[in-house]
Order: sequence, then structure tokens, then C-alpha cells
Amino acid sequence: MSDLKREQRKNEHVEIAMAQQDQPVSDFDKIRFVHHSIPSIDVEDVDLATHFGDFKLSSPLYINAMTGGSEWTKQINEKLARVARETGLAMAVGSTHAALRNPDMAPSFQVVREVNPDGVIFSNVGADVPVDKAVESVRMLDAQALQLHVNAPQELVMPEGNRTFSTWIENVKAIVETVDVPVIIKEVGFGMSKETLKQLYEVGVRYVDVSGRGGTNFVDIENERRDLKDMSYLSNWGQSTVESLLESTGYQNSMNILASGGVRTPLDVVKSLALGARAVGMSRPFLNQVEEHGVDGAIEYVNAFHQHMKKIMTMLDARTVDALSHADKVLSPDLLTWIEQRDLKL
Ligand SMILES: Cc1cc2nc3c(=O)[nH]c(=O)nc-3n(C[C@H](O)[C@H](O)[C@H](O)COP(=O)(O)O)c2cc1C
Repeated sequence: MSDLKREQRKNEHVEIAMAQQDQPVSDFDKIRFVHHSIPSIDVEDVDLATHFGDFKLSSPLYINAMTGGSEWTKQINEKLARVARETGLAMAVGSTHAALRNPDMAPSFQVVREVNPDGVIFSNVGADVPVDKAVESVRMLDAQALQLHVNAPQELVMPEGNRTFSTWIENVKAIVETVDVPVIIKEVGFGMSKETLKQLYEVGVRYVDVSGRGGTNFVDIENERRDLKDMSYLSNWGQSTVESLLESTGYQNSMNILASGGVRTPLDVVKSLALGARAVGMSRPFLNQVEEHGVDGAIEYVNAFHQHMKKIMTMLDARTVDALSHADKVLSPDLLTWIEQRDLKL
């Protein structure tokens, strides 16, 4: 595939993703917090900082992987990086594969480090890249972590996608053993199962972003790019972010679990944290913010988001992210069925 075609694909992903609408009801609605009338803390007591593995972040919210690899997406990365710098959010770039193939593309990713020299930045590549390329991807951005995305459904619906996956797990193992920053194995909106988490744990993975169904949908995006648009029936493939977090309960003490996928409101973030996520990523909402409201609008959005999270945590009597594990919650019959059939412990 030519570099021009790759650039075009990147732009198509952004265009189609921006046009996607979220379902009016999400799995986050299937979990409710129990309201208690008399909080023992004030809003100003709440501290949003989170710590996990090698990371101490002032906010559990992060800008998840999206762009780079074309002129347009360079501009988006530049804007997102300014938002990250002004709000203290960690930020991931989209797959750096384009820059690993063609160094002329590197500036579309490196702009993120230039704009935000002291920020926490995650680089990103696919689980199939050779180990030396994974190392290069980290070096390119002086990144604090490397996200390795696993996206089999996307590849299979993508007309020009990958059809070989049998080498992934050995490759993940080799990358985790070689790269000298934390490696986060990340889904792209299809969620994870406890079986996947076990497989990853056994090859040394200690950081995972379960990125579940419910938001940006890469079956739909790639189906849109097919001539016949004939794979829409796979649209509901995968576990939601809530289901994935339930799947992760047996691994929350041994791995750092991050959540993303369809997280849209401060309440969704707080619910993810209460289900055991150590940090929570959003992608499309940040894309829409910077493209529709500019950098200043996006900064205001993040600041308001943080204030709302503090108010929700006050209602839950949770001074810290850690304290959210004690929040009283009630799950829908749907989720209970999932827990029962999947033999999960809460
Ligand atoms: C335009 C766009 C491009 C994306 N590109 C990547 C990518 O290169 N690598 C990756 O790991 N995830 C990529 N993702 C997936 C997101 O990181 C995330 O897992 C997914 O969008 C679900 O989150 P959301 O519902 O908040 O958008 C992309 C998402 C969008 C919207």
C-alpha cells in the first residue's frame, strides 16, 4: 500500500469517526450508584490524582490514541497536545506505524512532544510490529509508555487489513521484555475477556486498556470503507467497557487496568474508576472538542469535566480515586447475568 493511501486511510478514519453517533443508552447506564444523603466531605476535599505502576497522574482522565500520519492529523495532534499541556492530562498518539515506515511522517507525531515537553505521552503501534520498531516508536516521542493495540475485528473488516494473528502473543512477549517503558496492551473498542487478560499476564504484561464497545466503532468505520458495506452485521461484536471491567476483576491486583471505549460523561469516568480502572481514556469526544470548539473550548470542557467528577465523588463520599472502590452500586439484571455466566467474582 502506498504512503498516500495510508494517509488517506488515516483521514478517512477521523472523518468517519467524527460522524459517528453514540447510542442513547450505554452499558454505563446499567450500573447505578446508591445515593446517601449526607456526605462527610466537601467538594474541595476531593483529589483526582491517580497512581498505578510507574505512573502518578494529576487526573485519571487521558486523551486516548487517535491521530498522526497525515497533514490534517498533525494539526489535530498539535491541538490535542496543547489541551493535554494546559490540563495536565496524559495523552496517547495514534499508531506511529506510518512514521516507522516513512520518517517524513514522524513530525505529525513528534509535534505532541514539542508542544508538551514535560507531559506524559504514550506512543502507539500494533501488536505485530517488529521489536526494534516498537523501541523506535518510544524513542520517536521520548514516550513514558507504549500502547500496543490489538484490533483483530478492525483488521478483518478492513478491506486491506491484516489476516494473520497467530504471531501476536509471542511478539507481545518479546516487546514487553525489550522495551524499557511500561507497555500497555490496548483494545480499540471491542473490550477484553478474563481469558485475554490471563494470556497477557502470562507473557509479562502488567498494563492493559480494555477499550470496550459502546463508543467509536471500528467495525462500522471499516465497513463504511468497504465497497459492498457488507459486514455491518458485526457491529455489536465485543464486550462493552463495563463488561470488560467486570471481566478484569480477578486481575485488578496483579495488573494495572485502564478503561476506555464509549466513556462520555464525568459519571461514566467515575463508574469506570469504581469498577476498578486506574485511569480512563476518551478519544472521539476530544477529537470533536478540538475540531468543533478549538483548543480553548476543549480546555474548558476538560476543566468542567474535572469539576463535575469532584461533585460526583463528593456525593459518593470519596475523597480519592482509591476510595471509589467502596462506593455502593447496584448492577442491572443484564450485568448480573454476564457475571453469572462468565463465572466472575465481584
Ligand atoms: C479517529 C480515531 C483513530 C483511532 N486510531 C487509533 C490508533 O491508531 N491506535 C489505537 O490504539 N486506537 C485508535 N483508536 C481507538 C481509540 O483509542 C479508542 O480505543 C476507541 O476510539 C474507543 O474510545 P472512544 O469511544 O472514546 O472513541 C482511534 C479512534 C479514533 C476515533
